[in-house]
Amino acid sequence: MKKGLTLMLTLLLLLPMVTVWAGGQQEGGEAATEESASADVPQVKLDYGNASGELEIFSWWAGDEAPALNALIDLYNDKNPQVEVINATVTGGSGVNAKAVLKTRMLGGDPPDSFQVHAGQELIGTWVAAERMLDLTPLFESEGWMDVFPQDLINLIGTENGIWSVPVNVHRSNVMWYVPDNLDKWGVDVPESWDEFFEVAEELESQGVTPLSLATNWTVNHLWESVALGVLGADKYDALWNGELSWTSAEAVEVWATLDKILDYTNDDFSSLSWQQATDLVVGGDAAFNIMGDWAAGYMSTTLNLEPGSGYGWAASPGTEGSFMFLADSFGFPKGVKNPAATLAWLKNCGSKEGQDTFNPLKGSISSRTDSDLSKYNDYSKSAAKDFADNRIVGSLAHGVTANEGFMNDFATVMEMFLKNRNPEQAANAAQAIAIQNGIVSK
Ligand code: GAL
Repeated sequence: MKKGLTLMLTLLLLLPMVTVWAGGQQEGGEAATEESASADVPQVKLDYGNASGELEIFSWWAGDEAPALNALIDLYNDKNPQVEVINATVTGGSGVNAKAVLKTRMLGGDPPDSFQVHAGQELIGTWVAAERMLDLTPLFESEGWMDVFPQDLINLIGTENGIWSVPVNVHRSNVMWYVPDNLDKWGVDVPESWDEFFEVAEELESQGVTPLSLATNWTVNHLWESVALGVLGADKYDALWNGELSWTSAEAVEVWATLDKILDYTNDDFSSLSWQQATDLVVGGDAAFNIMGDWAAGYMSTTLNLEPGSGYGWAASPGTEGSFMFLADSFGFPKGVKNPAATLAWLKNCGSKEGQDTFNPLKGSISSRTDSDLSKYNDYSKSAAKDFADNRIVGSLAHGVTANEGFMNDFATVMEMFLKNRNPEQAANAAQAIAIQNGIVSK
């Protein structure tokens, strides 16, 4: 790693910090100021005594998404038998529901002991900006993590005041999934561009096959970012986030126009499906392709027991070969938690080599450490690890890397509007307005 990631991070660091909610007010979360190294920079302590009692871990990894987290919790229990883990999950892909519940709890002064959050603006622009998190720099130093996590990733989870979460993985967003035998049966190849996709899609429709499966609205945001990367290329995609490319430029309008055309080739019932159900349409032979992050590989391998390569195939989403759109899940340490000793032990487990190589082979992601044991991973993950090392790295919008929560929420509204009226110019204008409102671009 990673010239691309360095470039992307440099661009992101230029983004103004935006306090997203509650005007950054402190409510309730004052209890842990004893951890403060100074009034401004509260730091984690390295010794809170022995870990025992209950530890509440908050995430959206429920149901089909649970096996990897369960394995990480089992490993934690082996090492900390005195602690009872309360696995608090709120169902809903990409955290659509969990983030709202977390917001209520954080604002109400009732933080879980640790919570899942995307590395990047999703954490920095919210709970770090609102001064609700502890700086984890002492932990990174004492565990030797400054040397095993890529510096670029540390930059992404840090500000000049500290390091704010422990990454557990690296996921790839821009992946197109399919079943190789089905494509052979239908006589089509994997499209390498959207123009090729439109040709293949006509052929598939003539055979009664849905070309691209889609699910509930956040997965359309997910599709949008792959389309944007494919249509714009990596440089211009990055330029959207540093204000160099206007959201109303002809290229940006073209992204929406392409998405409009793609939507003609998706299942009509998409808004009522979960991301797993959209994957099921591909696995079951009703649809040819799906664009989803590689948690879909975790679902197909771990839950559906399919072999990567034969049971399912993958390619970069059309027009994005050579680019790796990345995101990382991480866990933070909120101020004022009930069980700091058990939380500290949890974060150590999350960042450890053993923890990561236990969690990620089940999750479909790769380790965020540079010393991962790849022999524990399947062929899909090995190929993702290679691409992560070689490709141009760009950040995901839908999963918290490139923009703050305010923009993400507003973007979801723009998408709802677009799904109703399918007007590319109007969507582009609205996206420009929310980019200004949320400090992505200046007027
Ligand atoms: C992403 C998250 C993944 C996976 C996915 C689907 O935002 O980073 O780990 O959970 O949502 O829910």
